[in-house]
Amino acid sequence: MAHKVFLLFLVFTSLLAIVTVALNGFGYYVTPTHMRQFREDFEMMKPSGNYSHGLGIVGASMIIIGVSGYSTRKRVKTFWTLGKLSRWLEIHIFLCLLGPVLVLFHTTFKAGGVAAISLWTMLSVSASGIIGRFLYAQIPKNLQGNELTAAQITGELDRLSVKLSSSPIGDQLTRTIYKSFESLPKPKSIWEAIATFVKLASLRRAIRRQARAMIAAKVHSHQEAHELQVTATAFASLIQKSLVLNQAGKLFYYWHAIHLPFTVIMFITLAAHVTVTMLLGYRWIF
Ligand code: HEM
Ligand code: HEM
Repeated sequence: MAHKVFLLFLVFTSLLAIVTVALNGFGYYVTPTHMRQFREDFEMMKPSGNYSHGLGIVGASMIIIGVSGYSTRKRVKTFWTLGKLSRWLEIHIFLCLLGPVLVLFHTTFKAGGVAAISLWTMLSVSASGIIGRFLYAQIPKNLQGNELTAAQITGELDRLSVKLSSSPIGDQLTRTIYKSFESLPKPKSIWEAIATFVKLASLRRAIRRQARAMIAAKVHSHQEAHELQVTATAFASLIQKSLVLNQAGKLFYYWHAIHLPFTVIMFITLAAHVTVTMLLGYRWIF
């Protein structure tokens, strides 16, 4: 419940910020670039103006905090006890989605010079993050958000299967779940894996619906029904992930190999862009 409130807060804050900034500068952004200098708000709204310059600083700071915060939590042992890694990823995604949108408003939708490279790499990294997030979700993890080894996956499958088999309805659920996945062959190539990802999405929904109907028909205690539903969902999800584990792992590896260098290019060109603007004398409000 607390997690849902946290996610809702992030989504609501992002939407509120984007709608506010878009409405506030709407008139300026839809004015053709050669006509903008005749507007009253030009001095404030141009990329070096107090307002848009500020958006650039806030947006870039969000990206820097989002990347360094997540990387530090993930890689530096001292911080491993500081909350679940998956929560940090959610904060990474929040900051690194909202930050680029604010930077986009900072540019006032026109781009030239080295700043354009920073802009396009930033937008590519951010957009590719959505694919990364999808692949990340296919990799089985423990409660702390760390990847499970093959032995841990087998152990967890056994544990859930034993838990389900302790009641006749749970036993029936286990068989139904196994049977549903039997129809899906283990993918052998990346392309087969992509096709399997799509099929799995609808299969998972169908299994969840089927499990809910079976539980509702046989179990009358709310608590027991909830527990069965949670265990059956975790069991089905783990089988699903283990089906595509090899390919998801490979794709995730390639994705990292693109995401990281693009991030480096973005930060180098951002540093060049900020240096140039400072050399040109732009200082914002300081
Ligand atoms: C990833 C972050 C950023 C990107 C992608 C970005 C991109 C851009 C782009 C595309 C422009 C418009 C260039 C044009 O008029 O054709 C611009 C202008 C500008 N940016 Fe950024 N920017 C970023 C962050 C920053 C930051 C952090 C600062 C200040 C510390 C800054 C300061 C400026 C200034 C002063 C201008 C106006 C330059 C001029 O009119 O000559 N930007 N930026
Ligand atoms: C300008 C925007 C972004 C930048 C610069 C950025 C940068 C990075 C970097 C450097 C990493 C590697 C962290 C590490 O392993 O130490 C990373 C990981 C990741 N990012 Fe982003 N990111 C951005 C936006 C996004 C967005 C919008 C999403 C999702 C919608 C996303 C999802 C992910 C995921 C799933 C990982 C992998 C986590 C892991 O392997 O542990 N990123 N990002």
